[in-house]
Amino acid sequence: MIKKGIILSGGMGTRMSPLTKVVNKQLLPIYDKPLIYYPLSILMLAKIKDILIIVNKGQLNLYKRLLQNGKNLGIKITFIEQKYPKGLPDAFILGEKFIGKENVALILGDNFFYGQSLSGKLLESKKLKNGAKVFLHRVSKPELYGIAKINKKNKIVSIKEKPRKYISNFAITGLYFFDNKVIKFSKNLKPSGRNELEMIY
Ligand code: TTP
Repeated sequence: MIKKGIILSGGMGTRMSPLTKVVNKQLLPIYDKPLIYYPLSILMLAKIKDILIIVNKGQLNLYKRLLQNGKNLGIKITFIEQKYPKGLPDAFILGEKFIGKENVALILGDNFFYGQSLSGKLLESKKLKNGAKVFLHRVSKPELYGIAKINKKNKIVSIKEKPRKYISNFAITGLYFFDNKVIKFSKNLKPSGRNELEMIY
């Protein structure tokens, strides 16, 4: 059973500038709550109670003021700063000590999931022992997303970033469950042309 989860909640948020010049995107409101409450509630729906939140350098105090140590929500929250957005796999490098020898869930701080039977799917996914589970969602414009092609058994057979030629319409969302090998794999990655560690090429 996966007991630990990471929320990657840094990033530049350049597409939402100037709102994000002083406040992190994940602290901006969606309806009546800061955005980060939504991915946090997804981990809580998965009954994951030990949560690491990775935030931008300089934003730690804001996050701590908002969420404290999570005790009031019945969870345990720890924080760590990311110097700059080095890429999603950096979550597992920064989170190595937090993860220890366990498996781990990762959710992006700006992701919003809603739908029938979501809790069931989350509880099923947290049973992961080996490999990875990646949440996908059908989109109408696959050329704009990281896209996964799956076989009949729902196994991912290939992944392509913003494919010009159609391979599938399943976009990779920001919710993943990984076995512990993800730390080793992340450490072995070399930065891409965008100077980021990439989960997909
Ligand atoms: P992006 O969409 O790459 O980040 P962004 O929304 O800040 O980007 P932009 O400047 O293009 O508007 O990443 C998705 C989420 O993951 C977002 O919540 C920020 C977070 N993130 C980090 O916290 N650290 C990282 O190194 C990266 C790549 C993303």
